[in-house]
Amino acid sequence: MKFLPSLSIAASLLLASSIFIQQVSALSLTIRNDVPGNSSSPILYGLMYEDINRCGDSALYGQMLRNWNFQANDTGGNPDLEFWNIIEEGTKASITLDTNVGLNDVNTNALRLDIKELESSSGRAGFLNKGWWGLRVQPDESYKASFFAKSDGYSGPLNITLEKSGGGVLASAQIDGLSKDFQKFEVTLSPKDIQASSIDNVFAISVDSKEAVDHSIWFQVFSLFGETYKGRENGLRTDIAETLVDLKPKFFRFPGGNNLEGQTIDTRWKWNETIGPLEERRGRLGDWTYWNTNGQGLLDYMYMIEEFIVFVFLLFYTNKFILLYLPNITYYLDMNMEPILDLYAGYSLQGDSVPKDELGPFVQDALDELEYLLGDSSTKFGKLRAGHGREEPFKIDMIEIGNEDWFSTTYDYRYKAYYDAIHEKYPDKTIISTAAQKSRPWDLIDDHYYMTTDEMISNFDYYDNYARSGNGSGIFVGGCCGTSPANLQAALADGVFITGLERNSDFVKMIAYAPAMKRLDQEQWNPDMIHFDTNSVVVAPFYYIFQMYSTHHSDTILQIDAEEGGFNPLYWVAGSNKELNEIYVKVINLDPAPQPVNFNLKGLKVLNYGNATFISGGLNDENTLESPDTIVPKKNTFHIRHQNQFGYTFEPYSATVLTMKIDS
Ligand SMILES: *[C@@H]1O[C@H](CO)[C@@H](O)[C@H](O)[C@H]1NC(C)=O
Ligand SMILES: *[C@@H]1O[C@H](CO)[C@@H](O)[C@H](O)[C@H]1NC(C)=O
Ligand SMILES: *[C@@H]1O[C@H](CO)[C@@H](O)[C@H](O)[C@H]1NC(C)=O
Ligand SMILES: *[C@@H]1O[C@H](CO)[C@@H](O)[C@H](O)[C@H]1NC(C)=O
Ligand SMILES: *[C@@H]1O[C@H](CO)[C@@H](O)[C@H](O)[C@H]1NC(C)=O
Ligand SMILES: *[C@@H]1O[C@H](CO)[C@@H](O)[C@H](O)[C@H]1NC(C)=O
Ligand SMILES: *[C@@H]1O[C@H](CO)[C@@H](O)[C@H](O)[C@H]1NC(C)=O
Repeated sequence: MKFLPSLSIAASLLLASSIFIQQVSALSLTIRNDVPGNSSSPILYGLMYEDINRCGDSALYGQMLRNWNFQANDTGGNPDLEFWNIIEEGTKASITLDTNVGLNDVNTNALRLDIKELESSSGRAGFLNKGWWGLRVQPDESYKASFFAKSDGYSGPLNITLEKSGGGVLASAQIDGLSKDFQKFEVTLSPKDIQASSIDNVFAISVDSKEAVDHSIWFQVFSLFGETYKGRENGLRTDIAETLVDLKPKFFRFPGGNNLEGQTIDTRWKWNETIGPLEERRGRLGDWTYWNTNGQGLLDYMYMIEEFIVFVFLLFYTNKFILLYLPNITYYLDMNMEPILDLYAGYSLQGDSVPKDELGPFVQDALDELEYLLGDSSTKFGKLRAGHGREEPFKIDMIEIGNEDWFSTTYDYRYKAYYDAIHEKYPDKTIISTAAQKSRPWDLIDDHYYMTTDEMISNFDYYDNYARSGNGSGIFVGGCCGTSPANLQAALADGVFITGLERNSDFVKMIAYAPAMKRLDQEQWNPDMIHFDTNSVVVAPFYYIFQMYSTHHSDTILQIDAEEGGFNPLYWVAGSNKELNEIYVKVINLDPAPQPVNFNLKGLKVLNYGNATFISGGLNDENTLESPDTIVPKKNTFHIRHQNQFGYTFEPYSATVLTMKIDS
């Protein structure tokens, strides 16, 4: 018994010395600001977007009604009235799809309401739409509804309502003045006293007037929007848009992806069917097996990327003097994204290529699309754009020719035809090739990495070993990452991969994680970093790594010398931001144990503390609707005893960004 205390002293001495030994032998990283670093791409992190996993219609695109123009059923078959239900309360009425009542050449299908009997003044006849897996009504939100309608003799009123699914009106509006010709009606619905967000709601249109008996009313092209991102008409669902913006993405590649290509040449995404008023857009069967309404079209994408602000003409005056005069400045403040316009390039997903001698009209179509976006309003298609409400041409510097053309054997002649035509007219554009081909040069090549989690890790050094010369000037990693549930393990593996990309970001100019978004229960590709249902949004652990990396932008990548170890289980990259005078060290720890590191700074002095932002947890941890905050970034500060030396211990299974201020 007596020797116990001394034993424990010995044990603690042993422990202390092992800690000591561990500390002196810990990995030591020297961050070299005394040698020139490589410059890093200013637009490194961004988004690749296409409608997949139901992330366009039903999600980012804020349209709340489903089957709103009866162009086709959900799988692209014959149009029907799916998602619309009859309301017959004390009445006899019916709804039918009338395919002979054209609003224009595109929209020839109407919902016809026939009212046969209305027994009492408390009865009503009409129809309702349940939205996309529910219809969200939120506190303090107003809803704008519109539709076209006409009747064979009933002039109104019509009641337009938001209601609980089980009954109970939340908001209503009325319209009058129906006539024998289609007119567009617009109302605002403002529910009062909504305490909490709910989705068990419907949008309804009904009549409760006996005057309506024996009459028919035709309806075309419905629309219902809540408050959209930045209030834009036909705009974006705010919570999803903000989740994208919070990543501070620097570029936006659109509109696909496979969804640009079509399963067949004929079902490709056609830019000119996605412009103009909603009632002129036909929609198409997307590549991901469901109907795309094209409600979110080419111009809508451009507005989203750009997001403009108008400063209005102001005059301040007294009786004697004009005090201040501000000119009317319109300027464009986007989500800080550079558009990467992807052009259809004569290849569709099932494997068909447009033959070489038939490519002409397809190339011309791409030139027309470019003119629509870039031409001034004296050009044919620039004028069309101006007619759609946008006088000023857009700014697009990057153009991608096709999508994943390594699947085809015809890219050489197709790339050549598009490249020559585009380069001739727009010689200063950055041209992105989607595959290695020998016909013409490129500025960037779009590489994709869909591999296992282990492979993502083992590809950490892929671009360290990649011959920089002879392959154009750089790489766009336009799609990645590992196939796995969207848990912390996947996030860390993908984090290792993008750490490797950032180390090579003199050459790898852009990184996108694609697909970025999925509607829960509608997954077609996994993993995705933003998950949502009708009510809410939840992000995967990788989202936070991408955000931490994107929001700590290094303009220069600094050399790091390692002693007492190398990569694995830690993976790192460091850089500086001259404008902010900051140093960032980004580190992934794949080990279940904490990992101490001794940092030395060469040619660099920093303030006496730094900030750390990190995520960590269990490998299987996921964020779900029920527990959205299982993995969220945490912050702490760490002391820097000497201005050029400090220790930091990285959490088990973690991704960390250390921020230090340069002492200059
Ligand atoms: C869509 O219509 C086609 C026939 O045109 C039919 O085969 C298919 O089952 C329908 N799909 C749905 C979701 O109703
Ligand atoms: C229709 O609107 C009027 C006026 O707001 C209202 O009095 C009536 O109750 C509404 N009918 C239904 C069925 O909502
Ligand atoms: C779109 O352009 C193609 C090719 O120029 C043309 O054939 C087609 O009619 C156009 N469609 C619309 C809706 O303007
Ligand atoms: C200022 O610009 C807006 C938007 O372009 C325009 O609607 C408005 O008429 C302009 N006002 C003046 C005084 O020029
Ligand atoms: C070009 O890219 C390929 C991969 O696409 C790579 O194997 C090769 O090393 C690169 N460099 C040169 C000079 O071709
Ligand atoms: C800079 O890039 C070159 C390849 O062009 C590479 O050899 C070198 O290690 C890079 N330096 C840093 C600091 O990453
Ligand atoms: C640490 O974070 C705080 C709060 O965001 C900020 O004010 C401070 O400048 C940061 N310091 C460093 C060294 O990054």
